[in-house]
Amino acid sequence: MPDRNHQATPASGNRVASFCTDSPADLAKLAETLRSGGLVAIPTETVYGLAANALDEAACRRIFDVKGRPLLDPLIVHVPDHAAGERLARFDARAVRLAEAFWPGPLTIVLPKRGIVPAIVTAGRATVALRSPAHPAARRLLAAVGIPLAAPSANPFGYISPTTAQHVAESLGDRIPFILDGGPCAIGIESTIVALAPGRPARILRPGSISCGELAEALGEPVDEAPAPSSAQEADVEAPGMLARHYSPATPAALFDHGTVPDARADEAVVFQRRPEKAMDGPGAPTVFWFSESGDAAEVARNLYALLRGLDERAFTRIHIERAPPSPLGNSINDRLRRAATAD
Ligand code: TXA
Ligand code: MG
Repeated sequence: MPDRNHQATPASGNRVASFCTDSPADLAKLAETLRSGGLVAIPTETVYGLAANALDEAACRRIFDVKGRPLLDPLIVHVPDHAAGERLARFDARAVRLAEAFWPGPLTIVLPKRGIVPAIVTAGRATVALRSPAHPAARRLLAAVGIPLAAPSANPFGYISPTTAQHVAESLGDRIPFILDGGPCAIGIESTIVALAPGRPARILRPGSISCGELAEALGEPVDEAPAPSSAQEADVEAPGMLARHYSPATPAALFDHGTVPDARADEAVVFQRRPEKAMDGPGAPTVFWFSESGDAAEVARNLYALLRGLDERAFTRIHIERAPPSPLGNSINDRLRRAATAD
């Protein structure tokens, strides 16, 4: 939920976002909205983003207002390809390799920025985070609008990221004019963020579906793993947005080890990675859910946020969530679960 010091602006009247498609007529309308400084929620393969013209300072400021996001947390800029990225940042040989290997796709690269990028986008930093999304509707919109799009996840700051157009409508629908509906997101957790500081090993700032091993293989050199979440008080200098509490449901959440069964009460929910073999029933038993029938990590990631949002709407007093078994994607899932379950 938005932190008390950064409340989102009050809902403006009863304006409700319209859902759009990627038809030429709708894309023209969305491109015009973006060119004139408006906001549009867009689908990506990871999560939905709240997009504005990345070169328009006032438009980017609206993103922070609508999300209730602190101005010190910089935005990711979405570009169609490496060539468009070059206008915004300096790509060294490693950056070119990563863009060639993983774009379009769920990899965000933090690079030295060029002067054209407004300070509000980067929170005054000398670096900018760039990503080329793979979702076809996002790509069509980028082609139609012809400008880079700054887009953080389209949720109120600190809350669970949206993976459907409906999720965006539920939490931001009264604050934005349009949502480009691209269906449910195929990956379901946010992009891997990698920093490429000159003269230093590549470093993962946020784990995602592209693993450390895949990055190291593409670069032909070791890559530093993501740091554990820092406390909410100490914002990490290199990864300003990586607060311990993030992606959080309003209902308190607690994690339990993979393969175990938690102690839970009747007014609580228990979420397993996969359908459990044994039911938890009888008087006083909690209500049981699972992220995936088989426990396949890609399916867990895809269903993660939708299930947590759904549970948050029900009157459970606590959500107990099973950790994913270790694997590259399982570790990224556990990163999000840890943040969801952090109390402050
Ligand atoms: O998958 C994604 O990355 C989604 C979709 C919409 O593209 N976007 C997303 O954006 O997750 P957001 O704003 O929710 O998370 C971006 C993260 C934040 O933690 C922010 O602090 C970090 O990227 N970031 C942005 N610019 C940075 C920079 N120059 N240096 C370090 N971290 C940066
Ligand atoms: Mg976010």
